[in-house]
Amino acid sequence: MKNILVTGGAGFIGSNFVHYMLGRYDDVNIIVFDKLTYAGNMENLAPVADNPHYTFVHGDICDAAAVDAAMQAHDIDTIVNFAAETHVDRSLMEPGSFIQTDVYGTFVLLEAAKKFGVERYHQISTDEVYGEVMEGRSTETDRLEPRSPYSASKAGGDLLCLSYFTSFGLPVTITRGSNNIGPYQYPEKVVPLFITNAIDDKPLPLYGDGLQMRDYQYVQDHCAGIDVVLRKGTPGEIYNLGTGVETTNITMTKTILKMLGKPESLIQPVTDRPGHDRRYALDVSKIESLGWRTEFDFDRAIEATVKWYVENEDWWRKIKSGAAYEAYYARNYTGREV
Ligand code: NAD
Ligand code: TYD
Repeated sequence: MKNILVTGGAGFIGSNFVHYMLGRYDDVNIIVFDKLTYAGNMENLAPVADNPHYTFVHGDICDAAAVDAAMQAHDIDTIVNFAAETHVDRSLMEPGSFIQTDVYGTFVLLEAAKKFGVERYHQISTDEVYGEVMEGRSTETDRLEPRSPYSASKAGGDLLCLSYFTSFGLPVTITRGSNNIGPYQYPEKVVPLFITNAIDDKPLPLYGDGLQMRDYQYVQDHCAGIDVVLRKGTPGEIYNLGTGVETTNITMTKTILKMLGKPESLIQPVTDRPGHDRRYALDVSKIESLGWRTEFDFDRAIEATVKWYVENEDWWRKIKSGAAYEAYYARNYTGREV
């Protein structure tokens, strides 16, 4: 692993992965390949802008010529694919771009990986491909039962990856991560949305009864797990990647309010998301067998995340005051109060 193409590296988890890898190793080069959609932000990469081991390429993973050019120019031996449309609510409004990037874009990258004979193609996937899990925990061999256009697109990407392992012997690995939180997360996802709304004393729109459960994982733990799979994972294998502990949305919300010293009266119940998955829960014993462990439990993860948003108001205020964000917010939330 020397020259790593990090697609989607200007987004939330991708940029944290870039920081993680460059902070830890001085024998890898990171080439970020990113379309810079609404979720991509060069400010996420500003701390490494002058690092000689880092290069940025502006491009779309659906554009085979652009992907091939980057593969060739940077002598890529490893692809880590974070690039995706990622927000469930947006996938309910406009699913087309999810299918395009998360399925077709994955195919383009797999073709490039095959053509250039990479040592490893790693796909960043999600626990959402298992669908809602009312009891027990998902293991890597469970059936895929995605229920939103987002999770269905991600499941399609996973299946393509596995088919390239089976059919062509491409050394593919997949991690299925739980809900990540931490620095640089676009404030449409619930945790940064609720923290930043609470800072401004704005309502926190809680979907349905707030008893849905998610495994909130600190992004740095996720990045460490991806690194472990790149180094010790077996091609053709899938690894669940989360804390293995779930929290209800109402508990998560009250924890944020408490940490910020804000009243619970800011909680605004709104109509539920259609098809809302009630619970995700992962069995993470397989990745633990590679020596990886969660470092940030829920309280530490939320605390570190709240602290980052309090200390980095410039970063999120620029996003939240933009016309595109305001239009999205109005479209998703107007008239949903119950
Ligand atoms: P994000 O929305 O913050 O960032 C996505 C990045 O991909 C952006 O920089 C965007 O510009 C880029 N991108 C989008 N379409 C592209 C295209 N066609 N070509 C090139 N770049 C493109 O996403 P995130 O939350 O960092 O998620 C990263 C990956 O992790 C995704 O694959 C997602 O499915 C997966 N994942 C996310 C979570 C989570 O909690 N956020 C959990 C598990 C898995
Ligand atoms: P989200 O961050 O969108 O992640 P995902 O749906 O992919 O797990 O949402 C996390 C949980 O928070 C989910 O149960 C939906 C809920 N939620 C709200 O209650 N209000 C909101 O405004 C948002 C965006 C999500």
